[in-house]
Amino acid sequence: MKNLSRKFPMTRLRRTRSKAGLRAMLAEVNLRKEDLIQPVFIKEDLKGLEPIDSMPGINRFGLDAINKEVKEIVDLGIKSIAVFPVINEEKKDSAGLEAVNKDNLISIAIQQIKKEFPELIIIADVALDPYTNHGHDGVLDESGEVDNDASLLVLKEQALILAKAGTDVIAPSDMMDGRIGVIRESLEEAGFKNTAICAYSAKYSSKFYGPFKDAVESAKFFGNKTKDSYQMAINNIDEALHEVSMDINEGADIVMVKPGMPYLDVLKAVKDAFGMPTFVYQVSGEYSMMKAAIEKGWLSEEVIFESLIAFKRAGADCILTYAAKDIASRL
Ligand code: PBG
Repeated sequence: MKNLSRKFPMTRLRRTRSKAGLRAMLAEVNLRKEDLIQPVFIKEDLKGLEPIDSMPGINRFGLDAINKEVKEIVDLGIKSIAVFPVINEEKKDSAGLEAVNKDNLISIAIQQIKKEFPELIIIADVALDPYTNHGHDGVLDESGEVDNDASLLVLKEQALILAKAGTDVIAPSDMMDGRIGVIRESLEEAGFKNTAICAYSAKYSSKFYGPFKDAVESAKFFGNKTKDSYQMAINNIDEALHEVSMDINEGADIVMVKPGMPYLDVLKAVKDAFGMPTFVYQVSGEYSMMKAAIEKGWLSEEVIFESLIAFKRAGADCILTYAAKDIASRL
């Protein structure tokens, strides 16, 4: 930036802050409804909806109730949802095989939603944690480690099934090396040339995902293990740029940083370095933290809007946030 400062009182920064109209006109970034993506949880065999205790205001929906919820989301002007399955416990196994059943819950849900809302952009995760009885995102080798290349074979199938069901944006969140290339190639081969990939590129091994594990009911399977051998170390930012550059080279259309609020530096660095469409995920723990403080009366509910503006300022194009509906209703 050039040195713009003249001496006081020639320069009074409070002049342009003195009127609401001027403040609005000079806002450097703004939040639009189009920037918001609402994650939704769909639970097998559930009738209606049930609340998620660790995520105030967020529910799991049965197939009989999900379209009504999606209608509310669409009517608010939101363009996109991210869908997450909560499958029956008996269907979880060590290989996550239910993920590659073409008639699984999430495929049925996506088809059902697409039928009624063809314009809605559906984002679906590629990762095995909702399907495995150990809660990891991939399959294990004999020693119990997550096996990168064996996992790719399953993840690629999972991505194809999601694409066939009508997913607009495939979002690999598993953090296996090479996944974007393998998935892009198989989508092209199968003719899904306009199915986009949003890579969870800079996904940290974060404790902020805690409530999500409750939401998809993988917490009790996962116990107190970690995903440190595939998700990124919280200490690193150069490595995040390396991850993003690999995913772009392998064919990612959109890249993502996750979590959001504690990683604004990463978000800004990624947007500045690559100028790619960049999403940020305000994850479950961030949401629940703010909600809990709001419920206690310790914080005003405007903190959520403030957190979303911060993402825009740091360079996010779109934000996955559990508060999308709430915020959209006020924009
Ligand atoms: C699955 C996945 C996770 C989240 C999104 N996809 C959990 C994890 O990796 O442990 C977290 C989202 C949130 O906390 O809101 N791989």
